[in-house]
Amino acid sequence: MSIIRNERLADAGLEKIKWVKEHMPVLSELANDFSRSKPFSGLRVAICLHLEAKTAYMALVIKEAGADVTITGSNPLSTQDEIAAALVKEGVEVFAWHNATLQEYDEHVYRTAATAPHLIIDDGGDLITLIHKNFPKSLAQVYGGAEETTTGLIRLRAMEKNGVLAFPVMAVNDGLCKYLFDNRYGTGQSVWDGMMRATNLVVAGKNVVIIGYGWCGRGVAMRAEGLGGRVIVCEVDPVKALEAHMDGHQVMPLTKASAIGDIFITVTGCNNVITGEHFAAMKDRAILANAGHFDIEIDKRTLSCAGEGPRRVRPNVDEYVFPGGKRIYLLSEGRLVNLAAADGHPAEIMDMSFGLQVLSLQYLLKNKGTLGNKVIAMPHELDRQVALLKLKGLQLEIDHLSIEQKEYMESWELEGHEA
Ligand SMILES: NC(=O)c1ccc[n+]([C@@H]2O[C@H](COP(=O)([O-])OP(=O)(O)OC[C@H]3O[C@@H](n4cnc5c(N)ncnc54)[C@H](O)[C@@H]3O)[C@@H](O)[C@H]2O)c1
Repeated sequence: MSIIRNERLADAGLEKIKWVKEHMPVLSELANDFSRSKPFSGLRVAICLHLEAKTAYMALVIKEAGADVTITGSNPLSTQDEIAAALVKEGVEVFAWHNATLQEYDEHVYRTAATAPHLIIDDGGDLITLIHKNFPKSLAQVYGGAEETTTGLIRLRAMEKNGVLAFPVMAVNDGLCKYLFDNRYGTGQSVWDGMMRATNLVVAGKNVVIIGYGWCGRGVAMRAEGLGGRVIVCEVDPVKALEAHMDGHQVMPLTKASAIGDIFITVTGCNNVITGEHFAAMKDRAILANAGHFDIEIDKRTLSCAGEGPRRVRPNVDEYVFPGGKRIYLLSEGRLVNLAAADGHPAEIMDMSFGLQVLSLQYLLKNKGTLGNKVIAMPHELDRQVALLKLKGLQLEIDHLSIEQKEYMESWELEGHEA
């Protein structure tokens, strides 16, 4: 029995799902194929992902492939109640509602884990870790899982290292068709969508401090620049810092950037990145947002001790007033701003990430019992399959190597001269 807020919202949710479906050709091609072959027939699939329209479409594709699907949200603020209602109407079991308390959120994930799934899709590792901790008896029947994000993979690799991971997990985040597009272009665009919806302020002319210059940080920086922001990058990795410098951004430690930034965005996956000493140095009306997976990057506890607040001044904007009158604004309670204050990544981007997710489940099934209890690198053939389907959907054609060129590329006795 599903647990959602309001079943009457289903039609609005179905309309949203219909819209994204039009922009997700990879999933649609797979749905066509799976509706005939039914690869997941008789299997239970449990999903823990941001519960919005794109995720819902993927859940429906997996259901179309024959599975019994149960889903929960991977973040209380990103769940959309109309999407939850639409999925229930379509026969998916849902445990989620928007703005669940931490206790309610835990209960939703717990109930999803309790369905004893054969296959799992996770985002951040909450569902997989909970099954390991609370349902040890059902571990043996899990064929495998697929993890969506950087932070989840860090947790799962730690489980593998400690010898506790009980089934194979596909590193979907490490697929080329995932991080090159989702982390970079998806986060790059949707963070600014959330930022602008929440604040209705201009980016041009502002000092934008981006902390973490990984795949997500690069995208956020690239789009900040396009909007006219002056980008400052803070990093702990010397290579990434150098890359940011060569990309034309200012590079400095956060302690220095704190005094000049107008907007601060964390995208590190690390905890306590912006904390007391940084808040103390910030200007009046500094805006803070997080795009990393968990709400641990901005030290909210210290923020609420140092400043009076939170006082909600707009949806998704909380004000903290410091002694002397300085104000700091925190967006979306420090949770993923692109999902809490906007609709997450564009559908065209999630089409590729979710294409990889669905193909990963099929790969786990085909190779069950042979993969070992570890984090599995994304096989190149799955990336290639998603890229080819995407190009087809975009009606883009590419070149192909001739037999002679192929032989040349594979030969070690190269013809020709260097000079
Ligand atoms: N908002 C979204 O929709 C979205 C999408 C994909 C991934 N994510 C999440 O975003 C986070 C980053 O993902 P990514 O793929 O860019 O990871 P990544 O590993 O490519 O990059 C993270 C970067 O942060 C740097 N870093 C770590 N700790 C730091 C610190 N204390 N100060 C400064 N720099 C630090 C690292 O050196 C690294 O360069 C993860 O939590 C991931 O799960 C969010």
